[in-house]
Amino acid sequence: MNLPEKATIVDVGPRDGFQNEPGFIPTDQKIKIIDELSETGVKRIEATSFVHPKYIPQLADAEEVLARIKKREGIIYEALVPNAKGVERAIQAGVEHVSLVVSASESHNKSNVNMTVAESIKTLKEAVKLALSHGINVTAGIATAFGCAFEGWVPPKQVEAVADEFLDMGICELSLGDTPGLANPTQVSEMVRYYLQKLKGTDIGLRLHFHDSRGAGLANVMAAMLAGATIFDTSICGLGGCPFSPGATGNIASGDTVNMLEAMGVDTGIDLAKLIECERMVQDMLGKKLPGEVIKSGPTPWALKPRR
Ligand code: COA
Ligand code: ZN
Repeated sequence: MNLPEKATIVDVGPRDGFQNEPGFIPTDQKIKIIDELSETGVKRIEATSFVHPKYIPQLADAEEVLARIKKREGIIYEALVPNAKGVERAIQAGVEHVSLVVSASESHNKSNVNMTVAESIKTLKEAVKLALSHGINVTAGIATAFGCAFEGWVPPKQVEAVADEFLDMGICELSLGDTPGLANPTQVSEMVRYYLQKLKGTDIGLRLHFHDSRGAGLANVMAAMLAGATIFDTSICGLGGCPFSPGATGNIASGDTVNMLEAMGVDTGIDLAKLIECERMVQDMLGKKLPGEVIKSGPTPWALKPRR
């Protein structure tokens, strides 16, 4: 199989995961989790979001979290922002990399950020300019790129029209998000091939954001890798979900994804044993069974020492 030698994992658990927990995870616990995660070898962590605390009270402590985590050399601590106000807060917090989010479908965008897609594009263009003028790297993230909980099938042309608004603005990454967990491997393969071809010759990377709501998460990763993708969002313990997308469950679990990749010889740079230890700590802290499988079963023995 034509697999990449390396893949980049972006652990979005502290953002996508914590935002979806019913209760507020105490700030000290969030910091402890991010600090432990920082010891696993992961190179990118989406640490929080700068959204309105009225809508996502779980992340109302964004500033404090970013100020108090031990920022480890070589790790990028990223944040999600929905508008220019979010970027202003990110600048104040000294964030180096932000992900902007807009949906390709009107209903999810309205439900998520209370704007039409056109309004989001307008405000996010301001946000991109502001971020770039402060030397912040920008990922343009398209939620519902593979389908929408309200509208069902989202025509690829509609996704591309949104992507095209941002591609020549100086962003470093395009992220295709499957917020409701509707994607399947065939669809992923086609989309990844199309976008890698489209981005060829630019400096823009392609990132994939899968939720496991219908159990196809790791199959989607596999399909994406075979099509040439190398950057994946995962979430510690498989936490995650979108409060504004009915039925969306957790992201693909970090432990499960790293286990599968390492067992196949795809280097993630992550120490799987440490990652599982960290996931078990998170499970204990939250005091309930979490979705990841490897937390329960333990790793594939040869994932700990890649064979290739
Ligand atoms: N952070 C904090 N406050 C913000 C903000 C941000 N990023 N953006 C706007 N606000 C404040 C404004 O300053 C204004 O404050 P005021 O009432 O004191 O003047 C108030 O919010 C209303 O502004 P408005 O632009 O009308 O916002 P809204 O109420 O329509 O909400 C969003 C729009 C985008 C801020 C809100 O829907 C949101 O934060 N959504 C996040 C959704 C999310 O995180 N989803 C999951 C991840 S994909
Ligand atoms: Zn998500």
